[in-house]
Amino acid sequence: MKVAVIGAGAVGGQLAFVLALKRYRQIALIDTAEGVARGKAMDIMQSQPVWGFPGTVEGSEDYAIMEGSSAVVITAGSPRKPGMTREDLFNINYSIIDRVCSNIKQYAPGAIVIVITNPLDIMTYAAWKATGFNSSRVMGMGGMLDSARYRYFIAEAAGCAPDEAEGVVIGPHGESMIPLDGARAAGKSLEEIVGEKASLRVKEKTAAGGKEIVSLLKSGSAHFAPAAAAAEMLDAVFNDTGRVMPACVLASGLWDLPEVYIGLEAKIGREGVKKLVKSDISEGDLKLLKEAADKLCKRLEEIGISDSDGKK
Ligand code: LAC
Repeated sequence: MKVAVIGAGAVGGQLAFVLALKRYRQIALIDTAEGVARGKAMDIMQSQPVWGFPGTVEGSEDYAIMEGSSAVVITAGSPRKPGMTREDLFNINYSIIDRVCSNIKQYAPGAIVIVITNPLDIMTYAAWKATGFNSSRVMGMGGMLDSARYRYFIAEAAGCAPDEAEGVVIGPHGESMIPLDGARAAGKSLEEIVGEKASLRVKEKTAAGGKEIVSLLKSGSAHFAPAAAAAEMLDAVFNDTGRVMPACVLASGLWDLPEVYIGLEAKIGREGVKKLVKSDISEGDLKLLKEAADKLCKRLEEIGISDSDGKK
């Protein structure tokens, strides 16, 4: 099966490479900037004799190479600069999403779409509207990245192995993300191991994880962890695992949430979102989730993309 990655910047390039290493057979890397996708695809392919992966990465400026893709990942757009929030990117990235989606409709009308472009929750909603696809086929990558960061900081605080750290982040992919209570390290409650104050600090570090990297890099934002998280979502789609993972999904129908895209746990498989799953959530976190969803709803109204015909 074929996967297309749109945008050959830091995240897109890394994702194409990771997918090749994970033995995906056909990877199309697209970027409208002259030569960039072709150059990165060539670079990845020249590592093939060393890594021995079986697939092919093809790069092009032409969206037509995504033809036949079962999944399309949208990474196109500008990353944050120091001092910017993800929301500040709206004006720059919105028109790109619109153009990208009309090409997806043309060349990969049956694909599952995974959005990475920020501001994530708004852009995923915009992609849902712009493609006109069933909401189960359009989702965003935020929760898997934020949860990876949460687990990293849990492991760091508790001194356990990262793969023994358990923690889930839902809510918006932004400063008000919600690292859920109940983090565990090597089977024990994080709060019991390190205390309330330190476990709160772990949540704060998680929410600021992306921002810290932006301020260190000065130009560009994180890409290794975002690409890893997107690859995990693609694995669930291509292997039809039905794994429950946090993803940016259409929230309507769960906990009386409004029609917004926001991070929730969901069962992911070949047809995209199979089912929304109710997280084990405290009353306080549920209140935060509802507030964040209402805020997103207002933002969509302000922007004017929340009307039913999907026009701006
Ligand atoms: C981050 C970007 C990808 O969180 O939103 O690093």
